[in-house]
Amino acid sequence: MRLIKLLSLAMIVVSATCTAKPLDSGKFMKENVNFSKKQINKEIKMIEKSGKLLNPTTLKKDGTVFYCDYTDWRSGFFPGSVWYLYQLTKDKTYLPLAKKYSKAIEEAKNITWNHDVGFMIGCSFGNGYKLTKDPEYKDIIIQTAKSLSTRFRKVPGIIQSWDADKGWQAQRGWQCPVIIDNMMNLELLFEATRLSGDSTYYKFAVSHANRTLAEHFRPDGSCYHVVDYSMVDGSVRHRQTAQGYSDESVWSRGQAWAIYGFAVCYRETGNPVYLNQALKTFAFMKNHPRLPKDLIPYWDMDAPKIPDEPRDVSSAACIASALYEISTFDIPNASSYKLYADRILYSLGTPAYRAKLGTNGNFLLMHSVGSIPHNSEINVPLNYADYYFLEALSRKKNIEAK
Ligand code: GLY
Repeated sequence: MRLIKLLSLAMIVVSATCTAKPLDSGKFMKENVNFSKKQINKEIKMIEKSGKLLNPTTLKKDGTVFYCDYTDWRSGFFPGSVWYLYQLTKDKTYLPLAKKYSKAIEEAKNITWNHDVGFMIGCSFGNGYKLTKDPEYKDIIIQTAKSLSTRFRKVPGIIQSWDADKGWQAQRGWQCPVIIDNMMNLELLFEATRLSGDSTYYKFAVSHANRTLAEHFRPDGSCYHVVDYSMVDGSVRHRQTAQGYSDESVWSRGQAWAIYGFAVCYRETGNPVYLNQALKTFAFMKNHPRLPKDLIPYWDMDAPKIPDEPRDVSSAACIASALYEISTFDIPNASSYKLYADRILYSLGTPAYRAKLGTNGNFLLMHSVGSIPHNSEINVPLNYADYYFLEALSRKKNIEAK
């Protein structure tokens, strides 16, 4: 009996040692950067051969690649991924390509009919500016901030995400719908103030962040997708969802946007309330009883058929990237956020999520979800999952180089 007990204890220790064995970080980085390079090179070769400025976005239902135009909210992610490849590999052949693919979407700087210009221009020209300091890119970033600022609504003190009188949004009866995703557009406003000296953009970003902090979150730290404000008195009219399972459910990508967006606000302002919110939302996801062991969330943590529900790799990649940033802040237990981000990234790098070379429409990662309520992009690759994966690799590399 005693022997059996001892043997089982030994087995537990051995298996704990095996599962706890840390992955060789250098080897992981090298292998994943090499893979990303080879996979994206295949796509670049195809694009260059076509003679067109194609912008790969996702896979269509027939398995072919969907290429978007500059007006699509996802148009900045592929150029941004090429900028990250340039940064990660120092391979100069990426530089003219990153410039050319960014230039192809420049007109997005003038879009005033939605809030997504921060994603479009920030991920493309924003990264380009960090790497080249090209004055033309600076002007493009400032022009984009001007366009985004036209959507600031004084009465609720918020940037309106979607127009309420067009498309499927017009069916919802909203006045001033704001989605948590909008937090991701604030980084461009902070940058525009730095570049132009005009503090208006900074003030709009802070006002938006403060109102979102007050209205978008539940006591447990999770967030709503959509909050609709009154244009008359600024009050909240509805708290709802558009891409989640239900109004009260936890749409995973929304939580990722919140964690990332408020971490950026803390970086830019130093106001600890923003960091507290990012950490609270992260803790909610981390401790969620339905979060799978491999740390890749379901598309919605309240989806009814869990565990038989699609995962959303894009939310995992975005959370990992945000956690690398958080781990660089001068805060208690900063390194624990890096360790958790490493665990997500290692999971994304396994064959369960990372595609085989030459498959998956030449996208890096599989298994993301665009919008189940719209029956659109379910269990597919998405260019923003790849973008945040590359950004996470780049942040990990910079942290480990120190
Ligand atoms: N910003 C749109 C989405 O997260 O699907």
